[in-house]
Amino acid sequence: MTSRPEAELDTSAAAETKTASGDNTRKVFVRTYGCQMNVYDSERMTDVLAPQGYSTTADMEEADLVILNTCHIREKAAEKVYSELGRIRKVKEERAKAGKDMMVGVAGCVAQAEGEEISRRAPIVDMVVGPQSYHQLPSLLDKARQGQKVVETEFDIDAKFDHLSARAEKPIMKRPPAAFLTVQEGCDKFCTFCVVPYTRGAEVSRSVEQIVTEAQRMAASGVREVTLLGQNVNAYHGEAADGSTWGLGKLLRRLSEIDGLDRLRYTTSHPRDMDDDLIEAHRELKSLMPYLHLPVQSGSDKILKAMNRKHTRDEYFRLIDRIRVAAPDIALSGDFIIGFPGETDQDFEDTMDLIRRVEYGSAFSFKYSQRPGTPGATMEDQVPEDVKSVRLQELQALLSEQQKAFNASRKGMTCDVLLEKKGRNPGQLVGKSPWLQPVQLDAPESMIGSVQAVEIVEIGSNSLFGRLIAGQDAADGSGAIPAPAA
Ligand code: 5AD
Ligand code: SF4
Repeated sequence: MTSRPEAELDTSAAAETKTASGDNTRKVFVRTYGCQMNVYDSERMTDVLAPQGYSTTADMEEADLVILNTCHIREKAAEKVYSELGRIRKVKEERAKAGKDMMVGVAGCVAQAEGEEISRRAPIVDMVVGPQSYHQLPSLLDKARQGQKVVETEFDIDAKFDHLSARAEKPIMKRPPAAFLTVQEGCDKFCTFCVVPYTRGAEVSRSVEQIVTEAQRMAASGVREVTLLGQNVNAYHGEAADGSTWGLGKLLRRLSEIDGLDRLRYTTSHPRDMDDDLIEAHRELKSLMPYLHLPVQSGSDKILKAMNRKHTRDEYFRLIDRIRVAAPDIALSGDFIIGFPGETDQDFEDTMDLIRRVEYGSAFSFKYSQRPGTPGATMEDQVPEDVKSVRLQELQALLSEQQKAFNASRKGMTCDVLLEKKGRNPGQLVGKSPWLQPVQLDAPESMIGSVQAVEIVEIGSNSLFGRLIAGQDAADGSGAIPAPAA
């Protein structure tokens, strides 16, 4: 299961950071496309580059090194990268006129999928680096500086994970209150529409010890909420110190014991891997937030089978029922693909019916896009674009209605909010509700990084508006409690 859609997370490395050595002589600009895993990977790349004297910049023109961390999940991903490289070429030429050099790297899933083709089509690219090779960036940069065209797309994920955990030895630096932590990478599910098993490779889990160590360091550096990441995160099966294998439920229990980690989340999950222990963890753990991204993709048994999703709609309904019994308060989220080959009006109706029955708090939906190399790309009965568009609109209208209803149902509730950063207006902070909704409220800056009890007083189109409940200790309750009557 892949994580959030690319439109959601087209971020650039915006923050200026100091290198570990304090030697800020070089600047790196990282543009991140795609899911949270790419956001996490971009942070790791800048971590690896820091000891080389690189600090991040949000201004490409002053960058000595530009990295595009790319996504290949849907439509025209590679083409977008090539057109961005065209723009970068101009910036590079301008810098060259001023006597300044600029190296260009392409990382992420497009790098993995396209390999040498990238430096052939875009000669300004000095380095093509697949997701399993980021730990080698310093040596790859050295090679590129010597004029070699570097293409590194080997799948050596264990080496990558070993290296990632070594960063836990570095001095503790202050970090934002909410952060990602990769626990699992790759996928063995082979849904027939999806490139992930090809670009990210087979499923690999990090060891329990590596994850706990990294989470402890995160907590010590100010992180209050950790979202565990994996393309198929609930397939996690990591080795523990005693040689046994832990599932995600057990890992979450262990992480919930870490002082300072008030909140835990995980994404993205496959329905088939939602085991009893993980469901039980939702009932048991106060720090496990009541939000679950559990994509179903389609509500039609015929399409689910063609997608190789390995479950039926009834099995999905039964699973949702079990989850809601354990965690009645949970906000469900999902992904939907419209217009998979062979999808008829009736199949689409089945998807609409499933949505009506489940009632989602939020969801993402996409038109099916033929991904080269996947079985779906060559299936017969591809659905015409105009049909996909009409269906998508109808489906998004329903999902948006459900999201509004879910948001509106929070009005008048008091809930815990993790205050993450300053808001747009002076005196305002922005945080997250337990159900992952942004919440805006007036609060002093000193509260950034703390969990506060907040009454939800107003519902906006994209966020909730809240009011601090003075004097109420929020630290031990993650769910909603009714607001006192006025
Ligand atoms: N076409 C459309 N959507 C896709 N997704 C993955 N592959 C495709 C594709 N070929 C969607 C799925 C997945 C989300 C991250 O992206 O819904 O869950
Ligand atoms: Fe998710 Fe299926 Fe892709 Fe695996 S193959 S990442 S389960 S959509």
